Amino acid sequence: PRRVIVTIDGPAGAGKSSIAKRLAGRLDLLYLESGAFYRAVALMAVRQPQFLRNSQGLEDFLATFQLQVVSKNEGFRLFVAGQDITAGIRDPEVSRIASQVATLRPVRQWVHDRLRQIAGSGGVIAEGRDMGTKVFPEAEVKIFLDASLEVRAHRRWLELQNQGNTLRENAILEDIAQRDRRDRERVEDPLSMPPGAHYIDSTAYDLKRVEDICLHLIQPCI
Ligand code: C5P
Repeated sequence: PRRVIVTIDGPAGAGKSSIAKRLAGRLDLLYLESGAFYRAVALMAVRQPQFLRNSQGLEDFLATFQLQVVSKNEGFRLFVAGQDITAGIRDPEVSRIASQVATLRPVRQWVHDRLRQIAGSGGVIAEGRDMGTKVFPEAEVKIFLDASLEVRAHRRWLELQNQGNTLRENAILEDIAQRDRRDRERVEDPLSMPPGAHYIDSTAYDLKRVEDICLHLIQPCI
């Protein structure tokens, strides 16, 4: 029988990855970070921009794009042609391009196919923008994780600062607001709350509190 599928959707910086990672560890589920796939496509597109010039180029690129995913509960590592690209995909510039390539139907289809393949017979916690609406509509537990724009920008600023990045908080807020707008307003699989999803506003909560709420929702379904 298929094991449980849990989805967490929401805007940028809401804490989806942090929560999904913790829950994966606690519940022995595979953590699926869908944004990393869009980021990987974006990173390769930056390095080889000729592929994005027309739709045939894009199709060819995706057909030969060998993304190897080594998935662990702590997160995952991505390899292209044997090269570890995991570090590069977190760059704020790559975030911006990711949300642009994510508007393209062939890219989305390619990511969806990879995700469903990896999810196989379940036992996963998948995080992104369209996990509960589009990729895993059959998921037993769907969560929509939200927070105010200011708090999301502040959390992202802290995270980037810890990595030695010196971007101003206001610049990050602008970036996130623009990415949210693009993700919500696009034609292909826009960010929206899946039917039947549990809405969690984490503006005033710490990670532990959100984790506890999620555990309460998921544990009865396992
Ligand atoms: O989640 P993360 O911020 O890493 O995602 C980067 C970008 O990838 C998002 O801004 C969004 O445009 C795109 N994305 C998406 N659908 C998903 C996950 C991410 O369109 N399921």
